[in-house]
Amino acid sequence: GEDERTARIEAAREALGDSVVVLGHNYQRREIVEHADFVGDSYQLSKEAANADADYVIFGGVTFMAESADIITDDSQSVILPSMEASCPMAGMAEALQVDAAWAEITAAAPDEEIIPITYMNSYADLKAFCAEQGGLVCTSSNAADAFEWAFERGDKVLFLPDKHLGENTAHELGIEDSTAEWDPWDPDGKDAEEVAEADIVLWDGYCQVHERFSPEHVAQIRDEHPDANVVVHPECRREVVEAADVVGSTATITQTIEDADPGETWAIGTEIHLTNHLQRWHPDVDVLPLCGDACMDCNAMRQIDPNYLTWVLEELVEGRERNVVAVAPDEKELARVALDRMLEV
Ligand code: 13P
Ligand code: SF4
Repeated sequence: GEDERTARIEAAREALGDSVVVLGHNYQRREIVEHADFVGDSYQLSKEAANADADYVIFGGVTFMAESADIITDDSQSVILPSMEASCPMAGMAEALQVDAAWAEITAAAPDEEIIPITYMNSYADLKAFCAEQGGLVCTSSNAADAFEWAFERGDKVLFLPDKHLGENTAHELGIEDSTAEWDPWDPDGKDAEEVAEADIVLWDGYCQVHERFSPEHVAQIRDEHPDANVVVHPECRREVVEAADVVGSTATITQTIEDADPGETWAIGTEIHLTNHLQRWHPDVDVLPLCGDACMDCNAMRQIDPNYLTWVLEELVEGRERNVVAVAPDEKELARVALDRMLEV
């Protein structure tokens, strides 16, 4: 049962002392978050990993987050992912090989222009390295607009990947929503060279399968059932959903919004269901609702991190065995680091 497992996790942590730090993304289950030294969004957790003195960073999150932690921690530290199955499907929608091929076509479509690639944090290290090589950078959901501005100071056009919704929402923030083109690598008709030539922003056709399921009807229904409700959503939601919401932001912004809410306020949350559940537990004085009931919005990648696996990696470390180490290849690591450093600069 859970009590026995909790006792085992605590005993292992006691034995390992300061050599281990456990990080938990906001979308992790309660049983993981309760054992985490830090809980936060993907950007905050990377910074915690970098600041950690620990030999082992155990990452309750998905592969791209563990990779980012490995990139910014020093070589003496190991990053451990309790389940190697925890891979964000959106990150998998822009594989470096596929992007390489697309890059040749996109640059050929606009031969006189300087194109700057920007990848969302939700991508693998080899794509981050590719962006650095081509003069681009990484961004998160909290600094995408700044990253775009950085790119437009240095080039004519942005290729943004993998999340078309974050790209479109950012284009709106910058007032250039009428100058976007979509690039669908899976559809032979989804790549229009003429459109690419004209657009300021080329959007790779990737998306988050959790956030894409929110619809403007969900917002309308909440407003109908709870006329005093405020709505906060993640920028991976579709444009129409963001437009219908009151506040948009990263999981850290969503968390802060509820922390700042007055007792008795009603807030509907448009993001992965575990964060909504945590906010309900952490802020019982605020009326926190999931934006679409409990019918959907569970991230299958995040859910792979089962508390039994956390127990396993900890107990193995006690025995001197490092399991599930996520290590980015040295040359890729160096370049990906450049793309992340450029982000920190903006
Ligand atoms: P945050 O960077 O806002 O934590 O989001 C990560 C993520 O996976 C959103 O789906
Ligand atoms: Fe990836 Fe979406 Fe899951 Fe975030 S919620 S890890 S973007 S699939």
